[in-house]
Amino acid sequence: MAWRLFEEQDHAVLYQKYRLPSPSQIRNLVLSYLKRKKGKPFTLAVDIGCGPGQSTRGLASYFEQVVGIDVSGAQIEEAMKVDGPENVSYRRGLAEELEFEDGSVDLVTAGAAAHWFDMEKFMKEVERILKPKGCVALYCYRPPFELHYNDCSEQLTQIVQEMFKTLGPYQSEKCHIVQNEYKEIYHAITFPDKERVDDISFKQQVSISWIKGFFESLSYYQTFRKKDPECAKASIERMEQNIQQALGASSSETVLETKWTAFCLLASKP
Ligand SMILES: C[S@@+](CC[C@H](N)C(=O)[O-])C[C@H]1O[C@@H](n2cnc3c(N)ncnc32)[C@H](O)[C@@H]1O
Repeated sequence: MAWRLFEEQDHAVLYQKYRLPSPSQIRNLVLSYLKRKKGKPFTLAVDIGCGPGQSTRGLASYFEQVVGIDVSGAQIEEAMKVDGPENVSYRRGLAEELEFEDGSVDLVTAGAAAHWFDMEKFMKEVERILKPKGCVALYCYRPPFELHYNDCSEQLTQIVQEMFKTLGPYQSEKCHIVQNEYKEIYHAITFPDKERVDDISFKQQVSISWIKGFFESLSYYQTFRKKDPECAKASIERMEQNIQQALGASSSETVLETKWTAFCLLASKP
């Protein structure tokens, strides 16, 4: 099963440390869509494939209750370790078997996760648990991201692109759904009232060591590491050195700017 790629404890720890908190640009887009389609009150949001909860916690101040669901026990364990808002809880569970009452949920989200789901079964559950006019938002980041630092941004971005190219052969077939920008997923959304937003972009300041950790957190790096640990380690260290050299930096804690783009599918239950 594809989701077994996220089951190991050390992988979950990398996820906690090196993944993006869900960007405000996406959160605002989703919340204004929900406000437009359903309106308040915002009682319950459910974040599926929540990983260690970065995408879940960002919703806390807008809903009475937020629940993060993930099939991986290790990811849920990491999420629970965070001293987060009191109205956020986490449970192990499947996107395809959601343990919520019929018509009880205002918003279902999935950040960088929907490509792992069985969409037919997931949509059946979404239809069942959403309130009338409740919404579903499925978003994902587009690799590669850009790196910016003084006048060497082009060189840095090329280093990142090369790293993604090295990892390419280790991608699960599910990653093609991301490369295809969720076209199949859009078609699988059964609500007639649906739309896609393609022009989301945001910036994030990160250290060189964060970039290394981010690559290590990717499911396809983990596949590479299992197949050829030495080669995987060497290629990620080479990338780190190349970035450091391009910046003329002596420390891997040097901070630079990453620029990301993302897309989001939005739909509202009749
Ligand atoms: C790439 S991570 C995304 C984590 C987080 N939402 C984020 O924005 O960084 C994908 C997560 O989806 C979970 N997942 C994959 N298939 C799943 C399924 N069928 N049901 C529930 N969770 C699933 C994995 O265990 C993993 O933690």
